[in-house]
Amino acid sequence: MKQLQEKILTDGQVLSDSVLKVDSFLNHQIDPVLMQAIGEEFASKFADEGITKILTLESSGIAPAMMTGLVLGVPVIFARKRKSLTLINELYTASVHSFTKNETNEISVSQKFIGKDDVVLILDDFLANGQAVLGLIDIIEQADAALGGVAIVIEKGFQSGGKMIRDRGVRVESLANIASLANGKVEFLEEVPAG
Ligand code: G4P
Repeated sequence: MKQLQEKILTDGQVLSDSVLKVDSFLNHQIDPVLMQAIGEEFASKFADEGITKILTLESSGIAPAMMTGLVLGVPVIFARKRKSLTLINELYTASVHSFTKNETNEISVSQKFIGKDDVVLILDDFLANGQAVLGLIDIIEQADAALGGVAIVIEKGFQSGGKMIRDRGVRVESLANIASLANGKVEFLEEVPAG
């Protein structure tokens, strides 16, 4: 997605060979116009999958998930990383280990929001090692729901998550796929089209 790639090139900051900072439009301050375009792009990619729910993980997945849900006309659920005071119903839970942060979170979703008739689109801001997506797939399996695909805003193609999830036969669509962050420079798998 050209608009997103250009935004990454102008506003993203390469913090190391493996970490890209995008807090000016995605992870802290949010660019609503870009989020709307992202929502339209994902909605058109997954328009024929019969999606009934979108499942993301708090907090940075929520904005792009909301805009996609708005265009597809389906509800958005965010898995919680911390137990909520009001999350007292029966829960689906999964463990998500972050290699980046070296911590494990128990994520949870109320059982009343995903059921066996649902076709769920997983959506997240980053795909790195794929652990968050695996945890969300686990929850969809517990619910006996169908997985309609995985939508990722920024994939780090040089890390293993994308391959691991695609090898399971799951459709993964990322809007920007980064091949390398070496030498402080962002290189995409597919170059930004000219014009
Ligand atoms: P994984 O789920 O693919 O295995 O990713 P990993 O454990 O490596 O990532 C942990 C957190 O760091 C996730 O956010 C993920 O989105 C984010 N992350 C991973 N790589 C990058 C990167 O290069 N840049 C940025 N900005 N974030 C990255 P989180 O802990 O769930 O945080 P948030 O959703 O509350 O923002």
